[in-house]
Amino acid sequence: MMSAISRLIVDLRQQLNEHNYRYYVLDDPIISDSEYDALLRQLENLEQAHPELITPDSPTQRIGAAPLVEFGTVTHRIPLLSLANAMNTDELLAFDERTRKGLAGAEQVEYVGEPKLDGLAVELIYENGCLVTGSTRGDGTTGENITANLRTVRSIPLQLRTAELPVPALLEVRGEVFISKTDFDKLNAQRSAAEKATFANPRNAAAGSLRQLDPAVTATRPLSIYCYQAGAIEGVTYLTHWDFLQDLKKWGFPVNPNIKRLTGAEDIVTYHRQMEARRNDLPYEIDGVVIKVNSLPERERLGIRSRSPRWAIAGKFKAQQVTTVVEDILASVGRTGAITPVAKLKPVYVSGVTVTNATLHNQDEVDRMDVRIGDTVLIQRSGDVIPKVVKVITEKRPPRTKPYKLPAACPVCTHPIYRPPDEAVARCQNLACPAQIKGRIEHFVSKGALDIDGFGTKLVDQLVEIGRINSVDQLFGLTAEELAGLERMGEKSAANIIAAIEAAKRTTFARFVHALGIRNIGEHLSRVLERELAGDIQRFMTSTIDELIAIDEVGPIVAECVIRFWSDSTNRSIVEACLTAGVKLAEPVVSPGLDLSGKTFVFTGSLEQFTRSQAKEMVENLGGRASGSVSKKTDYLVAGPGAGSKLRKAEELDITVLSENAFLELINS
Ligand code: IVH
Repeated sequence: MMSAISRLIVDLRQQLNEHNYRYYVLDDPIISDSEYDALLRQLENLEQAHPELITPDSPTQRIGAAPLVEFGTVTHRIPLLSLANAMNTDELLAFDERTRKGLAGAEQVEYVGEPKLDGLAVELIYENGCLVTGSTRGDGTTGENITANLRTVRSIPLQLRTAELPVPALLEVRGEVFISKTDFDKLNAQRSAAEKATFANPRNAAAGSLRQLDPAVTATRPLSIYCYQAGAIEGVTYLTHWDFLQDLKKWGFPVNPNIKRLTGAEDIVTYHRQMEARRNDLPYEIDGVVIKVNSLPERERLGIRSRSPRWAIAGKFKAQQVTTVVEDILASVGRTGAITPVAKLKPVYVSGVTVTNATLHNQDEVDRMDVRIGDTVLIQRSGDVIPKVVKVITEKRPPRTKPYKLPAACPVCTHPIYRPPDEAVARCQNLACPAQIKGRIEHFVSKGALDIDGFGTKLVDQLVEIGRINSVDQLFGLTAEELAGLERMGEKSAANIIAAIEAAKRTTFARFVHALGIRNIGEHLSRVLERELAGDIQRFMTSTIDELIAIDEVGPIVAECVIRFWSDSTNRSIVEACLTAGVKLAEPVVSPGLDLSGKTFVFTGSLEQFTRSQAKEMVENLGGRASGSVSKKTDYLVAGPGAGSKLRKAEELDITVLSENAFLELINS
C-alpha cells in the first residue's frame, strides 16, 4: 500500500516533470519559475524527511554525484559519425544528385532540414525509460562518460514521458548541448565580475562546462540541448526520421522547432538560404543546416562512407563578415615571448559574439594587408576561430595614416625584440619579462628541464601574482614557511616542494640550458651543446657565433638566437644568480668508447629498469637520437614486455631489436 506521503511525492514529481516538459519541449509554460521552484522545494523537503523514498530519477536528483577524478569511457553501440560539408549551393545540388543516383534514379527525395547547432554532440542512453548513461561523441567510437554532468541539464529528461508513447527497452538519443547567445553573455558577465577568465564563444563555454569533473559546477552553467538523431533502439521501429523526431518530443526531449520536411533539391536550397538569413535572429549559434534523407530504408540503401553517412550533409554558411574600424594596433606578448600585433576594433557583433580584437598574426601579415590605425576593415569569424582581418577597405582610409611597424622594444619589459631570419614571429627573449614569467617558470620546472616535482601551474600563478617571483632564479630563494602560507598548500607539500627544488639544483648542463628556453634550443640541441662544450656554461655564455656554427647541428639561425640571448645582461645575471644560489651542473658523462652519433633508437613496451626520458638521455649523451616511431631510419628498437605494433614493424624492416638488458650492455660497452 502506498502511503499518503509516497503518493504526494510521486504526484509532485509528475507535476514537476510535466512543467519541465511544457517549458522545454512545448515552449509553453503554465507556471512561473518561482512557482516551479516552490514545487521543487516542497518535494525536496518531503524527500529530506523521508530519504528512503528518494529515487535516482527524481527531479531533485539532478546534482549530487560526487566529483570525479577522471571520466570513464563509453563505447558507442553505433558510431557517432560526422558529416560531409557542402560549402555552397552547387555542392548542395551535387549532394541531392548523388542521393538520387544512389536510390536508383529517384525523382525527388524527401529530406529533413535541421539547423546545425554549434555545440557539443552527446549521446543519451535510456534503458526501460531511465537515463542510464550520457557520453560525449569522442572520436566517434568511444566517448567520455559524462552522465553525472548531463543529468544536471534541466531540459534532459531523467525519465521518458509515458503519457503518449510506450517505453522502449533501449533508446539511444543523440543531440547537441549548447549555450544560448543571451545565456552566454550573462555567463561571461558573471565571470568577469568574479575576475574569472571569460569564454571565447558559446561553443567553448558549453564544452568546458560539460567537461567539468565536478557536476556541481556543470549544474551552475546554463546548458541547453536539442536532440536530433537516433542511436540504437529496441522495442520500436521507424520508417522515417521525421516520425522519430516527433516521438522524441512526446518522450520529453527538446527538438529544434526549426526542423522542416523538404522535398527535392529546390527545397534544400531554399531552406539553407532561409536559415542563413535568419541566423542572427536565432537565440543560439548555428553554422549551417543539416540535410538528412527522411526515409530510414532509403538511408540503409545509401549506406555510409568511412566517417560520414551518404544520406546526410552539412550545408555550411558563409563565414560572417562585417566591417569595423581599427582604433589601435597593439603588440601583445605571449607566454613564450612571441610578439603579436593585435588590432583593437570598434566593437561589432558577428556570429554570436561581440568582437573587439582581431589578431594580425605578424609583421608580414600587417605588411601584406597594409593595415593601419584608423582603417576600416572587413573582419570574419567562423566557428571558434579567432576573428581575423580579411582586408582593408582602402577607399575609407582617413588622411595622414602611416604603415604600422611592430615596436623595436618589448611593450611589456622594454628589452629589444628579435625576429630570427626565416621566422615570421618576433620575440622578446628577456628571461624576466613579466608577460612571459609564468610561462618561463612553468618551462623551467618541467619534466625535461629542471624537473621540479609538485611545482604546478597554480603555484606558479600565485607566486607571480603576489609578486614573489619575477625571474626563474628567485625559485631558489623560496622557503617552506612562505609556501605553506599560500592557498591550497599544506606544510607537508610545502616541505616536499622545497626538497624538490633543492634536489633540482644538482642538474646537468643539458637540462639547465633547455630550462632557459632559448629560442630554438630544445632538449636535443641542449645535449649536443653539452657534449660539444664539455658542459661548461661559462664557455657557452661567451661562445662566438663562429664557435657555435662550428658545432654539428647548430646553424647560423640557432647560433644567432644564442648570441642574442646572451647579449641581454638580464639573462646573464639570472643565470649567474642561479649558479650562486647553488645550481651545480654535473660533468657530462664522456664515454670515449661508444659513439652513437647517427644512430636512432626507438623504445617500446613497458620499460622496467629506466624511464623513457632516462633512456633518451642516455642515448643522446652518447650522440645518438631517440625517436617515437619505427621507420627505415631506425637502427635499434629497444622492446620491453608488452611491445606490439612497433616490434612487428621493426621485425618486418629487419631492424635490430634489443631487450632492456642488451641495451644497457650496449650503452656500457
Ligand atoms: S546529425 C550522421 N544533426 O554536427 C549524423 N548533427 O559534423 C551526424 N550537429 O558531431 C549528426 N546539429 O555535433 C546532426 N541537427 C544536427 C546537428 C548535428 C549539429 C553537429 C554534431 C555532429 C556534427 C557533424
